[in-house]
Parts: sequence; structure tokens; C-alpha cells
Amino acid sequence: MKKIVILISGRGSNMQAIVQAAKTEQWAAQIAAVISNRADASGLEYAATMGIPAVVVPSKNFTSRDAFDAELKMVIDQFSPDLVVLAGFMRILTTPFVEHYMGRMINIHPSLLPSFVGLATHQQALDAGVKIHGVTVHFVTPELDHGPIIDQAAIPVFHDDTVDSLSHRALEQEHIIYPRAVKWFIDDKLSIVDQRVRVELH
Ligand code: GRF
Repeated sequence: MKKIVILISGRGSNMQAIVQAAKTEQWAAQIAAVISNRADASGLEYAATMGIPAVVVPSKNFTSRDAFDAELKMVIDQFSPDLVVLAGFMRILTTPFVEHYMGRMINIHPSLLPSFVGLATHQQALDAGVKIHGVTVHFVTPELDHGPIIDQAAIPVFHDDTVDSLSHRALEQEHIIYPRAVKWFIDDKLSIVDQRVRVELH
């Protein structure tokens, strides 16, 4: 049985979608822990009610990124995960941390990468006037929002869209493609060749 550790910072709706999919589709995987860098992350409560260990590693208690990442790594590794899933985990990660989980840590980013890296992606999309926007699941590499792309979903941008309406439309897609990508990883369907992800579905 493979083990998954999910990192969150807030409401954790992607984490919930993954937990639900694992349950209803009876994955051969266990959500071993949900870890937050913030004690007030509302997703922690959901994890606890689902019987999943919900752990806080408070980033505000650490003066350096290195010290926080070292502690976080120690806590994560206590659960011996096969896969670390970043689900709205609002931290920039240090290179040693990322390298430790290379090939076994994935993220969801609310844009069609490589467009609109960083924060406020829906505002960036509105400002750029794009007609198509979307979401991306990718492996995590040291360069922010640049890792090999596992899956993407596109959404239309309408003339009267706002950050709220776009983020709502994007989130619906996130909840579809993120659990599916996690399942592909668990089922050993993913390989990376020349920085490109191949999904072996048959
Ligand atoms: C999502 O939009 C995700 O793409 C981004 O942060 C948000 C997290 O939402 N990385 P939630 O905590 O999963 O509800």
C-alpha cells in the first residue's frame, strides 16, 4: 500500500478531493498524513474527521527557510511517503528540500504553465487578456512552478470574468485533474523522459 502525505496551508479543497477519490475509488494507497504550516488551516479539521493524522509544523516559529524545511522534512519522513502532494501549500521551498523529494513531489498551480507563475494567477490572466486559462499539475523542481507537466485543464475566460469567477471555474477543474494525477502516480503510470512526462494509460 503506497503512502501519500498532503501539505496544505488553508481550506484544502484539493486535499479533500484527493481524500474522497482515494476512498470512493478504493485506491491501493493510504493518505498517511495531512500537514499544514498554519495551525488555522481549515483543511486540518476535515483531515481529522476523516481519521487522517493532521499535523501542524508552524512556519511562523522558524526564523529561516532552511530551519523550517529541515523540520518539515523530518515530520514528513516519519510517515515514509511514496508521494508528497502540495495542495495549496503556500511556501517557497528550499532546493535541498525539493531535491530530497525529486520525482515524488507534485503540485497544482492555477494557470496553464508556463504562463503566469507565482501568485495572483487569475489576476495575471485577466490583465493579460487571455481567452483561455487553466490549471496545471506538475512535478516539483527547484525553480518555482517550472517542473515537468503531468496534466492540464483549460477553462474559457469571458469578458465579464473576475478573479472570483475564474478561480471558481479553475477550482472545479483542479478537483478533477489533481486526484486523477495522484492516482496515475500511485499506479506507476508516470515517467519523465527529457523533462516531459509520459502517462502510460494502457
Ligand atoms: C488552489 O487554487 C491551488 O491551485 C493553489 O492554491 C489553491 C488551493 O486551494 N495552489 P485549496 O486549499 O486546495 O482549496
